[in-house]
Parts: sequence; structure tokens; C-alpha cells
Amino acid sequence: MTYNEIRKVFLDYFKQHGHKIVPSASLIPEDPNLLFTIAGVVLWKPELRGERPAPAPRVANVQKCIRAGGKHNDLEDVGFDNRHHTFFEMLGNWSFGDYFKEEAITMSWEVLTKVLGLDPNRLVITTHHSDDEATEIWKKLTGKDAIRLGDKDNWWAIGDTGPCGPCTEIHYDMQPDMIGGLPGSPEEDCGRFVELWNNVFMTYDRDANGNLTPLPKRNIDTGAGLERWAAVLQNKLDNYDTDLFVNLKRAVSDLTGVKETETNKPSFKIITDHLRSVGFAIADGVIPSNADRGYVIRRILRRAMRHGQILGHKGGLLSELYPALVTEMGDTYPELKNNQQHVVEIIRNEENSFTDMLQNGMKLLESELPNVNNGILPGDVAFKLFDTYGFPLDLTQMILRDKNIKVDVNAFEKCMNEQKERSRADTRGTKLLWESQTDLPATIDIEKYETKTDKPATVLSILRGEEFVKSANENDEVEIVLDHTPFYGTQGGQVGDMGVFKIDDNVVMNVTETNRVGGLVVHKGVLTSPINVGDEVMPEINQQNRQQIARAHTATHLLQAALRKVLNEDVEQRGSKVSPDSVRFDFSFGRAMTTEEKQAVEDLVNEWIKSDLNVTHEEMDIDSAKKRGAMALFGEKYGDRVRVITAGDVSCELCGGTHIYHTGEIIKARINKEKSISSGIRRITMSVGALAE
Ligand code: GLY
Repeated sequence: MTYNEIRKVFLDYFKQHGHKIVPSASLIPEDPNLLFTIAGVVLWKPELRGERPAPAPRVANVQKCIRAGGKHNDLEDVGFDNRHHTFFEMLGNWSFGDYFKEEAITMSWEVLTKVLGLDPNRLVITTHHSDDEATEIWKKLTGKDAIRLGDKDNWWAIGDTGPCGPCTEIHYDMQPDMIGGLPGSPEEDCGRFVELWNNVFMTYDRDANGNLTPLPKRNIDTGAGLERWAAVLQNKLDNYDTDLFVNLKRAVSDLTGVKETETNKPSFKIITDHLRSVGFAIADGVIPSNADRGYVIRRILRRAMRHGQILGHKGGLLSELYPALVTEMGDTYPELKNNQQHVVEIIRNEENSFTDMLQNGMKLLESELPNVNNGILPGDVAFKLFDTYGFPLDLTQMILRDKNIKVDVNAFEKCMNEQKERSRADTRGTKLLWESQTDLPATIDIEKYETKTDKPATVLSILRGEEFVKSANENDEVEIVLDHTPFYGTQGGQVGDMGVFKIDDNVVMNVTETNRVGGLVVHKGVLTSPINVGDEVMPEINQQNRQQIARAHTATHLLQAALRKVLNEDVEQRGSKVSPDSVRFDFSFGRAMTTEEKQAVEDLVNEWIKSDLNVTHEEMDIDSAKKRGAMALFGEKYGDRVRVITAGDVSCELCGGTHIYHTGEIIKARINKEKSISSGIRRITMSVGALAE
């Protein structure tokens, strides 16, 4: 059975058994504690907790997953055995307070033995040692005695906290001729038995202290690795010998001109696996970077490149292989196709920027090898490879693995921490101090859209230097938080307001900067007369400065619309800084713009300014905004209520910033510069208003 057939058989079975079939969710999970979607159940955390209604009592899907960072991480194993992947597809069915153990177990047994026709004698069951109920259900259904194991094997949780419960696993005997290797035995990793399906009885919610509280309902969460099913059903000992991987490996062979052999097998596995994680993650909006999931993807891409190099390949690797991935999986996952050009550009740029570093780093590493003592590479060398040549630690470890050399990881981490400490000291500022003020209520700042308030505001907190004080004096430099304010605190790329605080029409503070720290709007400036916590002040923003910021912000939206028209629809915002009459706009695009293109973009923006288009500002729920076709930031998460800013029929964007009401207020726009800031990302600086004139 091919991958396409297995997906269909699985979903058809559960559809026939009353399940609603839902599409795979994004690899970027809603849950902020996770880097990636690591299992189908990640989508259902609020539903399991009863915080959100489930779409149906019974649901099933095939979910794309990545396990390559955090608690669930298979990265190091990929390539060196026959069943690990960083990207994989998980078949799953769920019951939200509907069926429980007996029906779940019966259905999975029926799928494996009846629908797929696996030999029941080759299936081995494990249950949690505390779970008599599941153990008895298995005995009654199959006559089998389950192997009873502890939490390590038979307790499943999404993360350290949240929904969890005991589970029962079904393993398949891949090689009955071998001896031993049963789940839970010392030889369990020998590859004889592979786990085909996990049925989790989601019954508890675990808190940060490890306490378990029963969930409002008893639920079922199951997960089965499609790649393992394919191996079993295609009679292969190695997942990487199944149809989908054979085709991807052929593409690697065609590109590199190298045939797969016993010796270079790990490279073929690593490249095909990493092609899937990098390709799918970028198609879902992840950008290779130095932080969080962006860094995981960068690391994976760099590991793949190293293996391209081992195969003697020069030049683009995953960028060249991506079309083969689209051929294999693009019908099941249309996002691969829809974003093809964009994904290839991002990968290509990332590959280009690492190519030279990889070669130079390898030279450094080879020159250090004669100095290696007792098979340990000093941590500072690994750190230099990381810091200067962009070698993630695991890349260095992977390269040294063949030579039986280990990295002194403690010394490496010491170097890393010292560097972090150095950079933290530079940017510490007062943010941490405000973050420690957990009792302060979030500032009510809705008046920022009105630009003014007629209600005095109460001074809630004053920070002078590094100290919170009850009162401060004339000439003191302070930061102040009020209960409400019309000041916009720097956010979403838009700089904060300037202005004054007044008492009885007299200025008491000149506000030079406004920032946001969490929910607080922090006004920074110098006092012109004493002020106390509890005083009432009238906050007034500098209207002219605000107008210059607002017109620059609306101009940014026009700029984005013009770039998409002149360059292509794939151009997406990657960052921005909107200041009075000046715009810095970063966007995804794989090459420098030509002079003609820059001129065309500038002309288009000015044409729209001349037409004096109406700019509307509306608040609505996210679904209505999506229906309207409002453009969202790539990979950004939005709340339920959003603001939608439209300019004529030219631009419609989700945006929390402040804007003008007619494009004519921008007066004029002028592009000053266009340059590259990192791979695949360009930066435009543009002036508007008086500055442009
Ligand atoms: N959520 C069940 C599993 O991943 O095994």
C-alpha cells in the first residue's frame, strides 16, 4: 500500500465510524510552549480541557509533525537508524468525551488486523502498569497478555504541563527470526519491534508542580506514524525504503550524480528527511533565523548541506530538491505548491549564505583535529565554529561522530553563556524592572486611536533610575505608568508618541519616548515640576508628530501593496519601523530590485497618494477580517478581535497601528534605499510628507 492509499484507508475507516475528518493544522502550533506541532493532539489542548468546544465528538486526521527541538526531539537519531524522522505524518483519531478505552482499542485492532490484514501474532501490546482496565480489554479482545510498563513507556503528555494520561501501544514484530528485543526489555532499541500505534487515555491535566487533576471528560487521543505503517505494509525493514522516500532519494541521486550505497545511506536519509522538515516548515511560515523555531530549521538545513557535501555536491541542495517534494506530497498538502517560489527562494538564500562558511569551518575543524586529546574537541573550538562559521553544535557533533570524537559540551556552553551575558548587559535597560511590577494593571490605551483623551489619568507608578519611587522632582528623568493613556507605546514596528503631561494646564512632564512592556504603556521623559503616585494628569500627545507617524504607517501599507503589484504577490512583510515621516520596510524577496522596479513602486505609491483614497479603520472578529481578505503578517498570531485598515481597494491589512483617513495626507513618498539585510530579505527605506518633499 502506498502512502496515498494508507492515508485514505485510515481516514475512510474513521469516517465510517462517525468521525469528522479535519485537515492537518499548521506546523506552527497555537500553544506558545511548543516550537512545532509534535503530534495531532497538539491542536486539541483547549478542547481536551473543555475550554473550547470540539468540532465533533469524534475527529480524525493526518497531521504533519516535526520533532526536532524541546521535549520531543528526534534530530540526532535521524540517518543512523531505520525509523527516525524529524518530519513525519501522524495518523490520529480522537474522542472528546465520547468513546473511551474499549471502543478505541477495538477500532485500532480492527484497522490493523482486519482492514490492513496484519498478522495478529506479530502484534505486541503494552499497557501502563496501573491500567488493569486496558489490560483486561486487550485480553478479552485478543487473548493477549499486555506487557505492563511504567511512565517512561506508557504515559503520554504533550509537554511538561497540560493534558496527559496512561497509554497503550501496539508494536509490530518486524523480524520474528531475531531473538529478544521486546518493548521494555534492555534490547528494545534493536529494531525488531516498532511501535505502530499509541492510544492515549487523556484523563488528567498536569500542573507545573506535577499535580494531576482529572480533565472534565475522559478523552481518547491516538497517534500512529504513517512512515512506519508504510514500511510494514510494503514489507520493508527501513522506513526510508518505502515508496515516498525511494522517490525522494532518487531525486537526491539525480541531483548529486551519486548512487545510494551502504556507506552513504545516512546522508541519503538525512537529506530526504531534512528536505521534508525544512520544506514544510518554511511553507508554513517559519523563516530560518537565530532564534526558536527559525534556528531549529536553520540547523536542520545546515546539517543537510553537510551531507550534500559528503556526497560531493556543490551548490543548492534542498532548494533544488524541493520540486521533488512538491511532486510527492503537494497534492496532499497544497501549501507546498502554493508557496513554492517563495519557499525555494528562502532556502536558496539560506544555502548561499552558508556555503562558504561550511567550507571555511571545515578547514578550521580539520586543522584542529591533530590537537584533539582523548577523543574530545575543546569547547572553545566548537564555539568558534558556531560563532564565526555558523556551525550549530549538533552539526559539529554530527561531523565528528564518524571520527569517534566528542565535543566538550560543558566548555562550549560556558562560552555560549559568557557571550549571552555580554550581550544581555548591553540591552538590559528598564524592561526587566517593569516586568517585575506584576501587580500593576495593564494600561487602558484604546484612546490612542482617538489621539486624545478628555479624562485625567492617574499616575500609578514612577521609576527613577533603577528605583520605583512614590514622588519625583523637577528635572528628574523618570518613567511613568498611568491607568489610561492616548499615547501609543512602540509596538508592531510603529514608534511610540511624544507629548506632555499637564496638571491644571501647566506642563509637568515632557514625554520624549513611549514604550510598551507587556500590557504596560511606559512614558519616559523629564519632569518640569514634582509629581506623585496618585496624582491626576492630562496626557497630551504631540499631534503633529503623531500625524507624521500615522501617515508613514499608512504609506507602509501602500508600499507593501505596490511591491506586491510590481514584484509579485509572494512579497511579504518581514518587519518594519514606522517613524515620523520615515519608513523602514523589510520584505521577502530573493534579489536586488532593479532601478526601474524601484521607480515603478515609488510611482505607484505616489499615484495612490494623489488619488486621495479613503482609509477606513474598523474593528471586527478575525473570521470576518479573513473573509474580507485582510492581509496578515506571515507567521504572526492574532487575537479574536482585530483592526482592519483599508486604503481604497488597494490595500486591506490587519494592523494595530495608527493611521490617517485619506491617502492624500501622506503628500508624497520617496524611496531612498533598497538593500539586502539577510538571506531572502530586502530592506527599503522611504520618506514621506515634508521629508520626501
Ligand atoms: N499523541 C499520541 C502520540 O503522539 O503518541
